[in-house]
Amino acid sequence: MRWDPSRYAAFADDRARPFHDLVAQIAVPAGAGPEAPRRVVDLGCGPGTLTATLAARWPSASVVGIDSSAEMLASAPAQDGLAFELGTIEHWTPGPTDDVVVTNAALQWVPSHVSLLPGWLDALPSGAWFAMQVPGNFGSPSHALMRSIAADGPWADVLDGVLRTDPVLDPAGYLGIMLDAGLEARAWETTYAQLLPGSDPVLEWVRGTGLRPVLAALDTADPSGDLTAAYTERYAAALRAAYPAGTHGTVYPFRRVFAVGRKP
Ligand SMILES: C[S@@+](CC[C@H](N)C(=O)[O-])C[C@H]1O[C@@H](n2cnc3c(N)ncnc32)[C@H](O)[C@@H]1O
Repeated sequence: MRWDPSRYAAFADDRARPFHDLVAQIAVPAGAGPEAPRRVVDLGCGPGTLTATLAARWPSASVVGIDSSAEMLASAPAQDGLAFELGTIEHWTPGPTDDVVVTNAALQWVPSHVSLLPGWLDALPSGAWFAMQVPGNFGSPSHALMRSIAADGPWADVLDGVLRTDPVLDPAGYLGIMLDAGLEARAWETTYAQLLPGSDPVLEWVRGTGLRPVLAALDTADPSGDLTAAYTERYAAALRAAYPAGTHGTVYPFRRVFAVGRKP
């Protein structure tokens, strides 16, 4: 299932804002002083644009973005102090100099992250920070409609089992994991009232992320595109009713779950 970096880059400001809100909670001074992190890891870094902001904040750190999508990494920026690796989050383990780990909007694709977190946190060096954000919108109309329409139509067999069940915890769940691992931690949630321009903007938003498995399965089952078009038409109509366009655009509320911890 491929990622399309140009499609993902649509709505870049709305997608970037939680990243900035997340890393603002990492209380490591900017710059290259004695407290600067030695290595900074961005797990599931995507196109690397946001990873580059970590390199700008800590210019003496070795900053590495890790992602399993070659398409995403192909558009990653090239600059000193910044490296990108093709790899899976499931196979990553923290190194002894990984003083900051950031993972933004990626762990929801890794259902095993809940069981992997304790081991990661245990392996972090003393003083390290772990900062994560995952979308907590699996119960929102956009995702509920995606699932209910997937289960009700000529595509139902093709889409059976394609969509994930909710793979993320509430803030308290991540807080508990971090506290149990001995970190000083905080966790919270924010619902962003995203104002999206254009027609069918919620469809365009999910096309870049959560709808990809559906589209990939339909395209594979029916290369003519008819099945994909039929599903998309019905889903688009349902989204228009759930998120009506207003005079200023379409408001797409988006809940996100954050957790940030520091190892003593
Ligand atoms: C929604 S994008 C987020 C990208 C970036 N962190 C950001 O905030 O813009 C999710 C990224 O996670 C990556 N990803 C998904 N599953 C992964 C896995 N198992 N291992 C590594 N990367 C993964 C995808 O390739 C994609 O680039």
